[in-house]
Amino acid sequence: MRAQSLPTLSFPAQSLPAREARDQRPADGRHEDGVLAEGRPAAPARPEHRPATEAILLVGGKGTRLRPLTVHTPKPMVPAAGVPFLTHQLARARAAGIRHIVMATSYLAEVFEPYFGDGSALGLHLEYVTETDPLGTGGAIRNVAHRLYSAPGDPVLVFNGDILTGLDIRALVATHGRTGADVSLHLTRVLDPRAYGLVPTDPTGRVTAFLEKPQTPEEIVTDQINAGAYVFTRSVIDTIPGGRPVSVERETFPDLLAAGAHLQGMVDSTYWLDLGTPQAFVRGSADLVLGRAPSPAVPGRCGEYLVLDGAAVAEDAKLSGGSAVSAGARVGSGARVEGSAVLAGAEVEPGAVVKNSLVGVGARIGARTVLDGVVVGDGAVVGPDNELTAGARVWCGARIESGAIRFSSDR
Ligand code: GTP
Repeated sequence: MRAQSLPTLSFPAQSLPAREARDQRPADGRHEDGVLAEGRPAAPARPEHRPATEAILLVGGKGTRLRPLTVHTPKPMVPAAGVPFLTHQLARARAAGIRHIVMATSYLAEVFEPYFGDGSALGLHLEYVTETDPLGTGGAIRNVAHRLYSAPGDPVLVFNGDILTGLDIRALVATHGRTGADVSLHLTRVLDPRAYGLVPTDPTGRVTAFLEKPQTPEEIVTDQINAGAYVFTRSVIDTIPGGRPVSVERETFPDLLAAGAHLQGMVDSTYWLDLGTPQAFVRGSADLVLGRAPSPAVPGRCGEYLVLDGAAVAEDAKLSGGSAVSAGARVGSGARVEGSAVLAGAEVEPGAVVKNSLVGVGARIGARTVLDGVVVGDGAVVGPDNELTAGARVWCGARIESGAIRFSSDR
């Protein structure tokens, strides 16, 4: 399998401190965290409570729901707002005081280190640990534990590598220290929780159960879901079985709960989006460009669109809705790009309309073609005068002839 070559890291590390200042607000009481928001007394603070300086980033998943975007590129490296999505997470972690991050890699593992290196450009110390066979989320956490330098009682952050969120990271760590939990979880509330793992809590925010993907109304006992960011007390990581696949959501957390461990939930209802599907990914990229999703790593001013250096956009082309046009991409005369991402070297020909879509590296969208809610894989060619609508996935390297597909009449 070929790994997609990526541009060299250009994130301006020196811009971090200014942005960092925004994240250095007092942690307690800013969000409803299930403890203070209920007006009940919080558990006594641990005398040894310290800020977290280390994190594990889980970036080894195959990203099957996002295919074909993940055929050549692992999900965390797919560009969002012009830079690999992971850049946003790394910058946010750095702004929250994290200095050492161990990346747990597996699928297309070779792509990460050449791009991010030792992390010094981001003011971080990055290390990479690759699983020969995927170990799942829990197995991956256990597998990198030997690279942590935290003491047994220290807090260690763990992030899924596909979540875009404005989570107050320091508040999650503070909640962990204050409540003396073994593991603390970021929880968010969603309108339809059926696709997620539910995490009910008691009035103090202590987790009472883990319920996977409920279907019936009776099973939907809460709208709180596992949002994919955790604080582990360092010693708890060593209790995860080693050398075999383990799911942290389905095995580690329920087992810890059954063994009487203290798992604490912190509801933070700030911006949150799981970028696991093409539509969510496109939405996340647009929200970053628009400034709705917070990141210190957007390479330019937030607004209706972002055009990276080396892109060529015709004067009468219209970009809007948080569109991002990457280096080497071209947008032709009279074309409209709305809420979309046009990746490096891709071409949108004159008069084409690209809405809520992602055009892969080096792909070509023919003149007058209309895309709405579509992902076009790397190197694919959609000929002129086609019309593709929501959910279409054009595979990498595929060719669609001129005028071949429509979803409406040609009249
Ligand atoms: P889908 O295949 O589309 O479900 O995506 P995924 O493979 O990324 O799985 P999922 O979204 O459940 O993964 C959540 C997070 O854990 C992502 O950041 C993944 O990169 C990561 N992850 C999932 N499985 C593994 C694994 O076996 N090893 C490592 N290191 N990370 C993993």
